[in-house]
Amino acid sequence: MADNDSVQEGKTFGIGIPQKTEGFFLKGSGQLEWGMKNRLSQVFNAKTGKSVMLAFDHGYIMGPTSGLERMDLSIVPLIEYSDCIMCTRGALRTIVPPESKKPLSLRYSAGSTILTDLNDECVLDIDEAIRLNASLLAVMVAIGDPKHEALTIRNLVKTVDLGMRYSIPTMGVTAVGKELVRDARYLGMASRVCAENGAHVIKTYYCEKNFEQVVNAVPVPIVIAGGKKLPEKDALEMAYRAVNDGAAGVDMGRNIFQAENPIAMIKAVREVVHNNAKSEQAFKLYEELKTTTRK
Ligand code: R5P
Repeated sequence: MADNDSVQEGKTFGIGIPQKTEGFFLKGSGQLEWGMKNRLSQVFNAKTGKSVMLAFDHGYIMGPTSGLERMDLSIVPLIEYSDCIMCTRGALRTIVPPESKKPLSLRYSAGSTILTDLNDECVLDIDEAIRLNASLLAVMVAIGDPKHEALTIRNLVKTVDLGMRYSIPTMGVTAVGKELVRDARYLGMASRVCAENGAHVIKTYYCEKNFEQVVNAVPVPIVIAGGKKLPEKDALEMAYRAVNDGAAGVDMGRNIFQAENPIAMIKAVREVVHNNAKSEQAFKLYEELKTTTRK
């Protein structure tokens, strides 16, 4: 216990040295509360401003997706190379070692599967997100889906409201309906609607034309989903272009865990996202790592 006799008078007041008031490295997040910023800086690297999120939440709508049949075997070895994991509570509790210490982007909305009508979703309890120590709440938002647009926006709004209460940021995940085209006009609108409704991060798809317009018209960081499996070189090129156009990284699943060598692939993706490597360099690295890294 401190005792009065040993209390020394303070001398180092730094008179004449103004206290620094730092900004915050992440787009659109400078006016958030401390807890929000702390969680966002677990997800995004403060030096590069970017993140390689590893997505393996596909099973909640698709069942045992190729590459995710045995997540203990395919995903657990990849976790250490990610900046953040994105998964359901079911996957988290059953296969993710709590010691992995990676921030969690929790799949926070749930509902219908590919067998019926996608996007008819509800959201989990905020208590569950707190129990699981989530750093980000990922909610599907189906802009332009006549049946589920309003429902999924309500889910987003509810999540942002509850997340604000406990300083857990929300990621709006733009779903693309069967009828909709993944062009800059659509992706820009869907992403912007999520941000205007309070999402702190947006996950959307990359589009070849005018992706920089999507990024520039959205006031919060955007990460791209990988989408369906591409040849590794093409997936690296897509990541390069997205980051070059201003994306704050990737939230990638199939193009990592379905790659011929997933560990080599996630390492190559990291080179693109954090070190600005061009796709040729990253692919060269992938080819080298393939020969030395176990599958
Ligand atoms: C989609 O609903 C899921 O949220 C996936 O996490 C997302 O699509 C990213 O995975 P992929 O890179 O395989 O598209």
